[in-house]
Amino acid sequence: MSQHINIVEVGPRDGLQNEKQVIDVATKVALIERLADAGLKTVEGGAFVSPKWVPQMAASDEVMAQIKRKAGVSYPVLTPNMKGYEGARAAETDTIAVFGAASESFSQKNINCSIEESLERFRPVVEAAKADGVRARGYVSCVLGCPYEGKVPLDNVVRVSKALYDMGCYEISLGDTIGVGTPKETQAMIRAVASEIPVDALAGHFHDTYGQALANIWAAIEEGVTTFDSSVSGLGGCPYAKGASGNVATEDVIYSLHQSGFDTSADLDALIETSVWISEQLGRLPDSKSAFSSQNVRLN
Ligand code: HMG
Ligand code: MG
Repeated sequence: MSQHINIVEVGPRDGLQNEKQVIDVATKVALIERLADAGLKTVEGGAFVSPKWVPQMAASDEVMAQIKRKAGVSYPVLTPNMKGYEGARAAETDTIAVFGAASESFSQKNINCSIEESLERFRPVVEAAKADGVRARGYVSCVLGCPYEGKVPLDNVVRVSKALYDMGCYEISLGDTIGVGTPKETQAMIRAVASEIPVDALAGHFHDTYGQALANIWAAIEEGVTTFDSSVSGLGGCPYAKGASGNVATEDVIYSLHQSGFDTSADLDALIETSVWISEQLGRLPDSKSAFSSQNVRLN
């Protein structure tokens, strides 16, 4: 029997949060619905963060109100604090995500507080979610490098991941925010975290700045990880991690997994169509090999 891999599609959030051009609500709604129609079971819907910090996510409440939700599909949103949680609740979200970092400087730049302060801020959010029957996911950024500090000690990654897991996050997404990690480093990082947290509660979140993301996914699979975040068309980047490229493209991950005998819920052709469609909306070419190979892209 083939092994199942879970994909968390982060394109509508991580993919679009860094875009400078205005993307209207209708386009975001259409993107989320297309991704769910392509068979993805988890599609991030947006982020309830300060609109001053991330203007592109400001209309996440409207997006969440307008999407037609499919049975069996979850639409997580990011919530950095109780204010964000209240917005997410009002939007009737089924899953929220708190997001911390393994690097002090990144924590300060991204959410304006220290790692310890962030954990204290997340605790009531995760507790409220638990009480309301909402699932809480935990992100840890900079697990393989920080844009401000360079190398990040593995102990920090383990400590923050464990704190989020012990708090009640059902899954810890380990983020190579700036896409600098390599397979060997990924392997060592996963081993360290998995010594404290069950490996089936871990997810990999690889940005593709140096073209290592797919190789890192395979290194993580070898370590027993079965959930990966990815972004249609390789969209994305973090506004507080200058120079970092998008996430690994969902369609490239799906191609690699399906060709290797692994099973996902996604339909590759429908994903490629969505990749080409969103790229056209954004006025650029897809940042994925599969979209080009599919010959769906008009190069003139
Ligand atoms: P702060 O300025 O310290 O917040 O920002 P504050 O509590 O002092 O509030 C200041 C103002 O923001 C107030 O409004 C609040 O009401 C408002 P004012 O009185 O000035 O009009 N505010 C909010 N508004 C809407 N929603 C909220 C909210 N909270 C406060 N939730 C804060 C702290 C965390 C809010 C801010 O730093 C922030 O929003 N940061 C978000 C940064 C972000 O979204 N980064 C990208 C996502 S993380 C990522 O991409 C990495 C990831 O992909 C994994 C990886 O790749 O590594 C997940
Ligand atoms: Mg990210």
